[in-house]
Amino acid sequence: MEQKLKELEMKALEEVKAASGLKELNQVRVSYLGKKGPITEVLRGMGKLSAEERPKMGALANMIRETITKAIENKNVELENEAVAKKLEAETIDVTLPGRPVSTGNRHPLTKIIEEIEDLFIGMGYKVAEGPEVEHDYYNFEALNLPKGHPARDMQDSFYITEEILMRTHTSPVQARTMEKHEGKGPVKIICPGKVYRRDNDDATHSHQFMQIEGLVVDENITMGDLKGTLEVFAKKIFGADREIRLRPSFFPFTEPSVEMDISCKICRGNGCRVCKQTGWIEVLGAGMVHPNVLEMAGFDSKKYTGFAFGMGPDRIAMLKYGIDDIRHFYTNDIRFLKQFAVQE
Ligand code: PHE
Repeated sequence: MEQKLKELEMKALEEVKAASGLKELNQVRVSYLGKKGPITEVLRGMGKLSAEERPKMGALANMIRETITKAIENKNVELENEAVAKKLEAETIDVTLPGRPVSTGNRHPLTKIIEEIEDLFIGMGYKVAEGPEVEHDYYNFEALNLPKGHPARDMQDSFYITEEILMRTHTSPVQARTMEKHEGKGPVKIICPGKVYRRDNDDATHSHQFMQIEGLVVDENITMGDLKGTLEVFAKKIFGADREIRLRPSFFPFTEPSVEMDISCKICRGNGCRVCKQTGWIEVLGAGMVHPNVLEMAGFDSKKYTGFAFGMGPDRIAMLKYGIDDIRHFYTNDIRFLKQFAVQE
């Protein structure tokens, strides 16, 4: 029996040594040390041994078991180390290889124009205000002197969510909200950029979602002259010092009087061409003196306070400034279009 056990030990140790992987090693472990393994098998015959020999054989069997276990453990460590070393080798990085160029993005042309306009007005003491894109009918229309059923509501086809809630059709509701917060006390001096929504079919000059920037100044003794001066500074800064502006009478329910601001055409310098439709002028934005009803509804005393407001579309401004012929370029994320603005950073 002793002989048999020793032979088993030798065979097991050889197999452990020869194991080339963790799986194989585990098989060796199961086959020698398992309950149905050969050592257990040999020990079954112990009954035939003398009482003297039995403990000796038991001890020997335990020793052999331990030796094999140890050998397996050592081999296990060895194989694991080998596997790690192999993996490390496979993952070696050649630090001398030249790197791949990393392409960076650039700011969206609309973001650029909005930031440029923001900077200009911040420099003149304005604060940037924001409001929700999902808006109450009250702020979008009623507080702006557009009660329900007012025909001028048709000027702005709207996406309604419920009877009383819609996607804002302009940034003017932020005027109403901001004035309300001031609780009748001036001055108010804000610009608010943001997305607006209208039920338009998308084409080269229409988008169901576009940007607006609203401006509002409310204080004592604010006049139309202040509005004109402000718009002139804006136009010359954004389009160039050589551009002229003109104000044409217009209509908005929330301003009285209302005007439309045009700038002189850069291409023909006022002589008339295709771009300005032979008029020499290009329409840029709407503006006017805040309607007394709007001031009163927001809690301002219209006898003490006056104000002006203007609203422009950065999409249109960017199109005019950069000569972009289709508003959809801003929203379709064609990298070839966007990349053209990288150089102008
Ligand atoms: N809210 C107007 C529009 O979207 C623009 C505007 C704003 C006109 C402020 C006058 C004063 O058409």
